[in-house]
Amino acid sequence: MANAQAVVGKPDQDFVEGNLVVRHSLSIRVAHWWVAVFFILAFLSGAALYSPRFFFLTNLFGGGYTARQLHPWFSVLFTLGFVPLFLRWVNQMAWTDSDANWVKNFKRYMRYEEIPDVGKFNAGQKLFFWAAVLGGLVLLLSGVVIWFPTSFPLWLRYLSYPLHEILFILFGIAIIYHIYITLFALGGTLRAMTRGTVTKNWASSHHPRWYDEVRRKG
Ligand code: HEM
Repeated sequence: MANAQAVVGKPDQDFVEGNLVVRHSLSIRVAHWWVAVFFILAFLSGAALYSPRFFFLTNLFGGGYTARQLHPWFSVLFTLGFVPLFLRWVNQMAWTDSDANWVKNFKRYMRYEEIPDVGKFNAGQKLFFWAAVLGGLVLLLSGVVIWFPTSFPLWLRYLSYPLHEILFILFGIAIIYHIYITLFALGGTLRAMTRGTVTKNWASSHHPRWYDEVRRKG
């Protein structure tokens, strides 16, 4: 993907365009929405199987049997979509000293005050990314054991069920928070994943170091 860049010689993101800043390339946005759609499908079909209280959700998938059949495939498609996101973001998600500083200033962040020295992603976004990577991996591996139970030893099956359920709940909470932050709490963030752009004001107040770097590039 980095290579669309090399071919045309022009970056596909992180540049100023008129009054806006291009934050996420088209390929990243397509991968993100792929991940979002399949996560929601996997989550709803998983919830339907998790507790009789949510069994009504099986109606969305044509009944209990099809929900059970579709759930692992939604999860596989979710994971496949995460691969390009991982490859494109992994370097930018490395932990730095300024992230430790962001964590120390977390109260200021919660009061919507500006924190200096924030690059393209803040420490909260990085922690969410790594939680999604590690949590997604454990969900996938425990899910494979549950999918093909007779291929694995009993102790692994006993371990996989609670692990899968605990991660399902934690992942659900994290994603609801992620959706709340991007849709409601931080105005102007959603367009970064729809149109790919943010305003200069958004960039300089939420990610000042990234904005400076992008501006200096011209
Ligand atoms: C359907 C609801 C979702 C909405 C509205 C949404 C919205 C967004 C937006 C607007 C951004 C860009 C933030 C920025 O540029 O600063 C973003 C980033 C991101 N999204 Fe989502 N997203 C959704 C679902 C998901 C799901 C299901 C995942 C799966 C794990 C996910 C993973 C990520 C990650 C890792 C990032 C980069 C780090 C971050 O900004 O927190 N998103 N999302």
